Amino acid sequence: MKTLNQHYTLSNGTKMPKIGFGTWQIKPGEQTYNAVTQALKHGYRHIDTAQGYQNERSVGEAIRDSKIPRSEIFVTSKLESHIKDYQGALEAFEKTMIELNLEYLDLFIIHAPWPWNEMGKDCKEGNIQAYKALEKVYKDGRVRAIGVSNFNPEDLQNIIDNTSIVPHVNQIGYFIGIDQKATIAFCQKHNIFVEAYSPLGIGYLLKNETIQTIAKKYDVTPAQLCIRWCLEKGTAPLPKSVTESRIIENTHVDFTIKEEDMKVLDEIKGDPRRWS
Ligand code: A2P
Repeated sequence: MKTLNQHYTLSNGTKMPKIGFGTWQIKPGEQTYNAVTQALKHGYRHIDTAQGYQNERSVGEAIRDSKIPRSEIFVTSKLESHIKDYQGALEAFEKTMIELNLEYLDLFIIHAPWPWNEMGKDCKEGNIQAYKALEKVYKDGRVRAIGVSNFNPEDLQNIIDNTSIVPHVNQIGYFIGIDQKATIAFCQKHNIFVEAYSPLGIGYLLKNETIQTIAKKYDVTPAQLCIRWCLEKGTAPLPKSVTESRIIENTHVDFTIKEEDMKVLDEIKGDPRRWS
């Protein structure tokens, strides 16, 4: 079976397709509608959006117009990073459901432990309150799994200690070079599934010579190698593209990276988003 059609199983039994289609930085309207339409046409069944991307409406339209049964598509959205109160989070969830215009959501997660414009701010109490709203919509059957994004072990521990459902998912920036060992270890220990956003390091990783050399060895592209690396690590990559040929290319990842090559790739250090 093609990797694209395979699933991971979350701690509550919900099945999530192994590869998701990321929509960060895809413009609302025609660009998002076309990209998601192409992704669905080429076999993706997992679409990742967020309130902050402002493209939920176009994502929902493309999903509905595809005529693919709703139950076959896994849809994620995220609570805006500045909403850190119970009522505000409930209202924001309703807005997401209106924008997407879908009957239910598969995964709803807190986008970040702090507002994007106040990174690092202590929002522990606010995260508890927002997460309790996620628990409510989960218990009401409106969403099949809940979780967080960009949470480090301390942020996760705060949720575990003060709420009743261990997050099903933590979506983090994860790609060759970045050090996420502590967060990954914590998530594995608590059975929190890790999703990998920016698996290509928003494109910068593709220029890396070691990656290019190993990709050649497997007769794949650097992008395919980067996506496969996330899969070898047991995470769900969410590659983004607005280019049809790349949307297709990123689905052809049915190969295995040998341990010796994984070791070489793991030697690459640093955040490629800061390489120039
Ligand atoms: P574009 O959307 O113009 O096709 P990430 O998923 O890590 O955030 O990376 C997304 C970036 O990588 C986008 O700029 C996207 O460009 C580019 N990209 C996606 N897939 C490929 C590919 N197969 N080859 C080259 N660049 C790609």
